[in-house]
Order: sequence, then structure tokens, then C-alpha cells
Amino acid sequence: MPFRDTVVVVLAAGQGTRMRSELPKVVHEVLGRPLVHYSLVAAREAGAERPPVVVVGHGRDKVEASVRALWPEAQFAVQLEQRGTADAVASARPFFGDARRVLILSGDVPGPTPGVLRRLVDSLDETGAPLAVVGFTPPDATGYGRCVHGAGGEFLRIVEHKDAVRAGLDDVLAERRCNAGIYLADRELLERTLERVEANNAQGELYLTDIVRFAEGRAQLVLVKDPGEVEGVNDRSQLAQAEAHARAGRNAALMRHGVTFVDPSRTSVGWDAVLDNDVVLEADVVIRGRTRINRGARIGQGSVLTDAVVRMGAELLPYCVVTEAEVGEEATVGPFAHLRPGSVLGRKAKVGNFVETKKARLADGAKANHLTYLGDCTIGRDTNVGAGTITSNYDGVDKHQTVIGDRVFIGSNTEIVAPCRIGDEAVVGAGTTVTGDVPSGSLALSRAPQVNVEGWATRKGPWVRKARKGGH
Ligand code: UD1
Ligand code: CA
Repeated sequence: MPFRDTVVVVLAAGQGTRMRSELPKVVHEVLGRPLVHYSLVAAREAGAERPPVVVVGHGRDKVEASVRALWPEAQFAVQLEQRGTADAVASARPFFGDARRVLILSGDVPGPTPGVLRRLVDSLDETGAPLAVVGFTPPDATGYGRCVHGAGGEFLRIVEHKDAVRAGLDDVLAERRCNAGIYLADRELLERTLERVEANNAQGELYLTDIVRFAEGRAQLVLVKDPGEVEGVNDRSQLAQAEAHARAGRNAALMRHGVTFVDPSRTSVGWDAVLDNDVVLEADVVIRGRTRINRGARIGQGSVLTDAVVRMGAELLPYCVVTEAEVGEEATVGPFAHLRPGSVLGRKAKVGNFVETKKARLADGAKANHLTYLGDCTIGRDTNVGAGTITSNYDGVDKHQTVIGDRVFIGSNTEIVAPCRIGDEAVVGAGTTVTGDVPSGSLALSRAPQVNVEGWATRKGPWVRKARKGGH
């Protein structure tokens, strides 16, 4: 167990001024997951057993709630005033106990993989060094601490960007290896650092990065190749970059698993969604929450699925919104359909354009192809719901159920006032307002009989007169 004697500390007390946000920085989301969750997930996947210690301060209620939602046993250290990263770690000190090591993660770095955390452990185990730091070479090093090495290659210290600029240290600014803000330290070295560190720098803060100096040339730098993996998020532009990086990584993994993306750069699949192989996702599809998509299903362009289930071979035509709803095997939905919570479509069911459903259960082979609202209803096997059908499920106070049997034919432009039961193999004539139950096998009609007044339009019809005057 690589982290058996290790306390995990996640720094998440800062305001994130550069985000210009009402929300604390670490609860901003990347691919539907709050920033602070990434460090926690990485620590857990790398084998951290003890509940982590999260340092909170700015917006602490929101940060704590977000952390607890993922890891209920997490502990919190409160940093009342944000005086720098070393001060943040110092607030977690009462939780160190007699741990041998402390793993420190930055809550605003969404990328660390379990692999890089394990490399930190290996680095200390192999070299006996008291400190390992994750380093990387970002395309633009502005704002990052530079990892300064001695003539013999020993890792001497980290110099913050601002301090290097202020002191005119061009050689330091030219250093491409940057500090990712992820550290594994012997507890004793860390405690000594926290006691001695001073705020004599450009930002007047207590820098955790000074720990490298206190390691006196024995610190190890563990470099990661892909800078996107450990780039931090300080502003909205970096937030968007982190989103793009996470999306690309997630989609690449899904493609290896056998999912087709028409355009992966325009398709977003959340972390908790599960997709089988031979699923096809067209461009601009967004998949959120615990959505599950089975083999052979196709999701049309621009569709948004949240906590949805799409069974084998089903097809969503473009621009469908499906939320907490289930689409049966080989069913067809859309284009432009809206399946709202509690909707369940059976095998080979069809829901067409401009149809909205809510708590509607359509049995196998049932169809509602056009311009329809189906709410709080059950629709039997192979029943056909005509264009423009509305279930009036709400009387202004309560919701009521509509139950329609098997092989029923509902004519177009029908209103069904719930509660209502329509028996098997009944027919409802077009234009009917159904206000009472319809027995099986019968026809329901509520239309006024049609009257034709012969010659009326020709004699008096205003439209005919106008058209004749101005006609072409
Ligand atoms: C820090 C590092 C820098 C590194 C970069 C990597 C220091 C001094 N600098 O800079 O070398 O290249 O991360 O992304 O450590 N925090 C607190 N309390 C505080 C201050 C910060 O909890 O008093 C938390 C923040 O919420 C954040 C993390 O620590 O999650 C890093 O702080 P931030 O101010 O973003 O540091 P950087 O300037 O990015
Ligand atoms: Ca940062």
C-alpha cells in the first residue's frame, strides 16, 4: 500500500481572485466535476486509505459540501486568513499525527493521475530523499514557480514567477521546468519547513515551495510529459483549457473502448456516464450524469442526455433532450423531442418531432410521432397517438393519470382530460376532447357535426371578395 503511512492534504482555501467569481475557485467544474474532486479521486485511485484533509477557508461551506458529496469521511482544516500555501499546510498540521509522509495536492489542479502520485512514492522509496515534487514544462510558464537546479543537476529551489520578474532573474525565467503544486514530503522535513518559512517575497506570502530549499539539494523532481495533465486553473481561460484537456482524454479513452465520435472535439461525455462499444455519438452531443448507453445506440447531433438510459440499438435523431428517462431497445426518438424525468419508452417505441413526455410510459411498439404532450400516462403496446395529442394532466392543483390500453388509435388533435382510462383497441376520433373513460373496442367522438352552407362563401365570404379584388 503506497500511501499507508501518508496523510493526504488538499489545498482549497484560496479565493481564486483571478476567476472573478462569487463561487470559490475549487468548486468550478471541469467536465461536470468540481475542480477539488480531481485531487481527491486521484488520491483515492492511487491507494490513499485514510480520509484526506482538505484545507478550507474562502467559501468554506460550499467547498466542504462539495468535498463531502464525494468523500463523506473527509476532514477539514480551516485556514481563516489565506496567507499562502505554506500557511495552508500549517493549518492541517494537527491532522498529521505520527504519519511518515504528507502528500500535498492543490485543489485547483484538475489533472493528476494516480500514476504520477505513485511515481512520487517510488521516487522517495528508491532514493531515500525526503521530498518529491511534480514538475512539468507548460507551453507558457507565466505564473508558475520555476524549478532551479545546481550545476550538478541537483534540485535546489523553486522561484515563483513574480519573484523572478521582480529580481530580474532572466536565467530563472528561462527555466522551462515548472512546479505543478503536488508534493510528497517526509513529515519531519515538512514540519521543519513550516516552522522556518518566512514571507519575504513579492507576494508577502508564506510559500510552501520554500520546502525545496530546506531539503538542501536532496529533493526529487518527478516530471510529467503531458503538461495538460497538471496545469493549474487560476482564471477562466485556464478553466476552458482544463475542460478541453479533460474532454479530449475522456473521449480518447472511450474511443479505445469502441465508441465512435463523429467529432470528439465537439462532444462531451461526463465522468460518470457508461457507454458500451459500438455506440455512435454525432457532433455536439453532451452526455451528463449517470447516463448509460448500450451497444449499437446512435445519438444524433446536438442531443443532450442527463441521467438517461438508452438501450441497445436505439436511435436518437438530432436535437433531443433526454433527462432521467429511458429509451427502449431499437426505439426511435426525435428529431427535436424532449423526454423529461420518469419517461420510459419500450422496445421499438417511437417518439417523433416536437413531442414532450413526462412520467410517460410507452409500451413496446407504441408511437407518438408528432407535436404531442404526454404527461403522467401509460400507453399500451402498438398504440398510435396521433399528431397534436395533449394529455391534460394538471387541473391547476393536482396531477392526474391517463391510462391508454393496447392497440388503441388516438386520432389527431385530441385532448385527453385526466384522470382517464381508454380501453384496449378503442378508437378516439380526430379532434375529440376525451372527458370520460372509453371502454375497450369502442369509438369515442366529441366533435360537433359538420354543416356545409352551400354558396355562402361565394355570396358573402369576405375572403373571397377581397381575393377577387386584389387577386393576381
Ligand atoms: C502555486 C505554486 C507555484 C506552482 C503553482 C502550480 C506556491 C507559492 N506557488 O502557485 O509554484 O507553479 O501553484 O499550479 O505555492 N491556497 C490555500 N491557502 C492559501 C493560498 C493558496 O489554500 O493561503 C490554495 C489555493 O486555493 C489553491 C492552491 O493553494 O488551490 C494554490 O494556490 P494558488 O494561489 O493558486 O498558487 P499559484 O499562484 O497557482
Ligand atoms: Ca494555482
